[in-house]
Amino acid sequence: MESKVLPVIQGDYTLKDYDQMVKNFSWEDVEKEFSWHETGLINIAHEAVDRHASSYRKNKVALYYKDASRKEAYTYNEMKRMSNKAANVLLNHSTLQKGDRFFIFMPRSPELYFALLGALKMGVIVGPLFEAFMEGAVYDRLSDSEAKAIITTPELLDRIPLDRLPHLETVFLVGDSIEESDKFVDFNKKMKDASMHFEVEWLDRESPTVLHYTSGSTGKPKGVLHVQEAMVQQLQTTRWVLDLHDEDIFWCTADPGWVTGTAYGVFGPMLAGATSVIVGGRFSIDTWYEAIQDYGVTVWYSAPTAFRMLMGAGVGPMEKYDLSSLRHILSVGEPLNPEVIRWGMDVFKMRIHDTWWMTETGAQTICNFACLPIKLGSMGKPVPGIEAAIVDDQGNVLPPNRMGNLAIKKGWPAMMRQIWNNPEKYESYFMNDEWYVSGDSAYMDEDGYFFFQGRVDDVIMTSGERVGPFEVESKLLEHPAIVEAGVIGKPDPVRGEIIKAFVALHEGYEPTEELEDDIKQFVKKELSAHAAPREIEFKDKLPKTRSGKIMRRVLKAWELNLPAGDLSTMED
Ligand code: WTA
Repeated sequence: MESKVLPVIQGDYTLKDYDQMVKNFSWEDVEKEFSWHETGLINIAHEAVDRHASSYRKNKVALYYKDASRKEAYTYNEMKRMSNKAANVLLNHSTLQKGDRFFIFMPRSPELYFALLGALKMGVIVGPLFEAFMEGAVYDRLSDSEAKAIITTPELLDRIPLDRLPHLETVFLVGDSIEESDKFVDFNKKMKDASMHFEVEWLDRESPTVLHYTSGSTGKPKGVLHVQEAMVQQLQTTRWVLDLHDEDIFWCTADPGWVTGTAYGVFGPMLAGATSVIVGGRFSIDTWYEAIQDYGVTVWYSAPTAFRMLMGAGVGPMEKYDLSSLRHILSVGEPLNPEVIRWGMDVFKMRIHDTWWMTETGAQTICNFACLPIKLGSMGKPVPGIEAAIVDDQGNVLPPNRMGNLAIKKGWPAMMRQIWNNPEKYESYFMNDEWYVSGDSAYMDEDGYFFFQGRVDDVIMTSGERVGPFEVESKLLEHPAIVEAGVIGKPDPVRGEIIKAFVALHEGYEPTEELEDDIKQFVKKELSAHAAPREIEFKDKLPKTRSGKIMRRVLKAWELNLPAGDLSTMED
């Protein structure tokens, strides 16, 4: 049988001695690289772009962009100019000011990155929205944050209910033949005329940067707010975990609508002055392999779902491409199956390095490092400078090999600083004001490796995207046929989990295939395709507690043929 430990593959890695770094490292060493060391003030877009534009990296490519119709490259100097222009456009054609919320709702394109960096130069808070969101999901996020402006495309405009969003003053549109008005601004037209000079807003380290909405098991999506200081950890993990060197070509496959797509699709690599590849459009096996070949990608950060799809396609498609530039591969978002790691060893002759973190942690926290052996099934060890532990429900640290709550010691640099508009919710994440409790269960072995066991709550991870069952259930209840709904994640070999809904119907409705399709379409149209149930099961009645809460645990037990556990709180 194959060994469960994969030894280090020889290489010259940025992090050489993990144990020594754990003992001696201080985040202050990283801070010294940034401007606040001298002035006390900072701006993440300056550190990610302008700093390199006035260094030997000036003419180095910061960003390669490619989709079905465009193929472009931008140096650090060009990124500086384009983000300055974008900042001027936002400044001159809206009332956006420092601290206001500006949303980005569009498919990946160079303009998306200019607008993101431009807004950050102004000290505006950026809310990135995944392009697949539909009207209900868009409305919830824009109204909760009282967004003042948004950048989008004409194709997505009808998903923004302008009449119900009184705070939304300005809509920047990226597309052809835009009709301008008080509300609508042609972004590209204004970019042409905008000045390429802009004085960045200098901010303190606690000033907010991005607002990512993410799902929990109860309530609507919550706005997780990050601050400037996150850049310290984003930069250092880019070195230690992604192991990016100056000559690397890095590809993070995540969309900036999710935290991986901002923290490591933009900030980490640009703070490190690296070259990034951005591939627009949908996942396709050939496009992906081609991107690695054509750009000579050396470091590749993706997700288990994608790896499983590539694995499922076999070596046939792979043999058409030269993938020999790759030297380091990483994964995030869901458990990385040992089977996928074995596939990586087989086809790339390389280990795939799992990384664990969350929107709330703002940057990588527990990872497999190039300089450490990998234990199959483990997500690795804490990033030096970060303390992780397994705690019980009272916040006591448990000894090795005991399962409990995966927790991080409060106060790491990239830690979220607020749940938008919801201080009670924010407080509820912390136990005894000491531990941030992740909602994941795990154990740590005697060597300090962490092993993911599952979610403590009912959050669903489908194709690496986080879906809150409550949001889907609420939407299902808006369907005229449905009286009760419960939603769970059902294990799936490719997607990790799929969304399965159990529904009970109002009198007069029959469980038919047409109705099933109609319900799926309804959620798809209102929330997004990835939040729509792939399976629906009709029930006369759903298991509920006496206080009326749907017992998802029982639904899950039904689905998986497991014992349902304690049913004492269930109604008759
Ligand atoms: C899950 C994504 C197992 C976990 C950056 C976490 C993982 C949630 C891993 C956060 C991993 C993330 N192994 N599970 N390596 N990485 N998760 O906020 O349940 O979209 O709590 O952040 O994804 O999802 P989020």
